[in-house]
Amino acid sequence: MSKSSMRARTAGRGPKPMAEGAVPAALPDGGFAHTTVLLREAVDALVTAPDGIYVDGTFGRGGHSRLILQRLGEKGRLVAIDRDPQAIAAATSGAARVTDPRFSIHHTSFAQMVATLAALGVSKVHGLLLDLGVSSPQIDDPERGFSFRFDGPLDMRMDTTRGESAADFLARADEHHIAEVIRDYGEERFAIQVAKALVARRESGNPVRTTGELSDVVARAVKTREPGQNPATRTFQALRIFVNAELEELQQGLTTALDLLAPGGRLVVISFHSLEDRIVKTFIARESKSEIDRRVPFAPPLPTRLKSLARVKPSVAEVASNPRSRSAVMRVAERTEAGWS
Ligand SMILES: C[S@@+](CC[C@H](N)C(=O)[O-])C[C@H]1O[C@@H](n2cnc3c(N)ncnc32)[C@H](O)[C@@H]1O
Repeated sequence: MSKSSMRARTAGRGPKPMAEGAVPAALPDGGFAHTTVLLREAVDALVTAPDGIYVDGTFGRGGHSRLILQRLGEKGRLVAIDRDPQAIAAATSGAARVTDPRFSIHHTSFAQMVATLAALGVSKVHGLLLDLGVSSPQIDDPERGFSFRFDGPLDMRMDTTRGESAADFLARADEHHIAEVIRDYGEERFAIQVAKALVARRESGNPVRTTGELSDVVARAVKTREPGQNPATRTFQALRIFVNAELEELQQGLTTALDLLAPGGRLVVISFHSLEDRIVKTFIARESKSEIDRRVPFAPPLPTRLKSLARVKPSVAEVASNPRSRSAVMRVAERTEAGWS
């Protein structure tokens, strides 16, 4: 799905803001920690066949992957994916690298996982996990440009080897396009004012290049503040979703999962804002809803390709110990035999 068609589909229904919690400490090696959300709940739902093949489409720092490996038998296999080169580096070098022979990791998007799996000789899997959004190491590293809490280059790309940074987008896009992104992906009421201010600054020869500059422009353009929320929250989230084509990637990943999952295989998706969760919810509902072939009298309902199993939120204890988990919603579905030969 193109960025513009997704924009049209979601127009006016932007995300509820993502929770930003306490700042985790930097690790001794200069990296940043990530506390895995819904760790046991996700792995319990995912692993049903210890000797099966599993995909962790969002490795991050491998919290889920490490527990999946503990649950797998000798013949089990885990294929991990991440689009962030730093996540790949964390899995392959340094003290926390994963050396388990049942594990491999690949630098790609989960939207492209069919090609990666085909190259490994895998055409069906027993479970796919997507723990969406950004990791704490991405948010907390000022150099990545994801957060208004630190000043740094306005990048926001998860895959730093390709694509356009947020600063480059703001340097070239017209006012209408900028406003549309901020409105559709951030549900920012002052999207037009923010876009006008950004373009005025650019036309005066001073385009925004840093997170601090963007925060300042937004703070002046957004006239009413939501309690407990930084005025830049919605604009930052909107640009991040756009720069990484997050909604299109998710849609593609879900569609691909239908072809990859073996009967009985589990799809487990953790979302962190309402735009993502709406896509997952709608997808699972559509694929779990039985239709009747109205051309055939007394026809039985057509079999569905998914069975919806659960919707899970973090416990009160998890939210208390990891505030970033508070907006998480996990949905679980199981592949049926429909469409398998
Ligand atoms: C919330 S973190 C995952 C954390 C992980 N479950 C853990 O326990 O460490 C999300 C990760 O998914 C990656 N990611 C997001 N969208 C992706 C995509 N379309 N394809 C591959 N990786 C993606 C990000 O780069 C980030 O590392």
